[in-house]
Amino acid sequence: MSATTGERDDTQPHRTKGPLVYRQSIWTRVTHWVWVICLFFLLFSGLQIFNAHPTLYIGQESGFEYDNSVLSMHAERRPEGGYAGYTTVLGNRIDTSGVFGYSGTEANPEFRGFPSWLTIPSYRDLATGRVVHFFFAWILVGVLFVWAVASFFNGHLRRDIVPKGADLKALPADAAEHARFRFRHHKGYNALQKLAYAFIFFIVFPAIILTGLSMSPGMNTAWPWLIEVFGGRQTARTIHFTAMLVLVLFFIVHIVMVVLAGPINELRSMITGWYRVDPGKEDRS
Ligand code: HEM
Repeated sequence: MSATTGERDDTQPHRTKGPLVYRQSIWTRVTHWVWVICLFFLLFSGLQIFNAHPTLYIGQESGFEYDNSVLSMHAERRPEGGYAGYTTVLGNRIDTSGVFGYSGTEANPEFRGFPSWLTIPSYRDLATGRVVHFFFAWILVGVLFVWAVASFFNGHLRRDIVPKGADLKALPADAAEHARFRFRHHKGYNALQKLAYAFIFFIVFPAIILTGLSMSPGMNTAWPWLIEVFGGRQTARTIHFTAMLVLVLFFIVHIVMVVLAGPINELRSMITGWYRVDPGKEDRS
């Protein structure tokens, strides 16, 4: 605050806090919040669709003698009475009663993969789950397209997302800083941020969208090669589910990082565009 004018002066070098800089364009901010909403509905409606057949497979073969499942959720009667829910991951069977395979109460048991509080709608309704899923899937595709075009033309893609040689060199030091919970606040993203976001934009989003498309019968007619690229419908479904798990993991780490780096400053930048940098770090380096 200036003593004479009463106005805030964020450029004073003696301040321990640096100035506010305009970090996130309107395109970055609007697209970010639209895909957050889309991913919320996609996740929970996707789990509703999964529940219609709560087993994932790899490969094209099938048969009574042949087990190519990699994940499965089901309920079984306990010898002592009542039911238990089991999740089998790569042959390892885990008792997940109350959450996966078997949930609800004794008076109102539910035999379903994911419990009602993890699906949209909460009750069993594949048709509505599919309508919700496809609606938000197309909005997600549209908003990612808008993000890609805007980021290409405004330089965000080149400046902040595509990692460069210098970012790879800076990676060990950057990882060490993060491990010590020391976060620097520069105008540009650090090496770990660039790599994490590039991984999401160039690998996870394309994988989840293309495997989703490859499971559509309409697309199988239009682009029959797509399903072959992913090793058939069942493998595509497993890759789609795995990409979802990666997004959930990314989301958890992302939120932890936002909280550790200073949630008010981080959220302000993603809502208004303005970000408070460390003194002398107003440029993108
Ligand atoms: C599944 C949900 C989410 C995904 C996939 C996601 C993904 C991303 C991506 C890819 C960026 C970089 C965007 C760009 O530079 O163009 C970003 C930035 C950011 N996100 Fe999210 N986000 C999610 C949810 C959230 C939520 C719920 C919050 C707030 C609590 C949040 C807060 C931020 C902030 C503050 C940034 C600024 C960039 C930074 O300083 O690293 N995100 N997010």
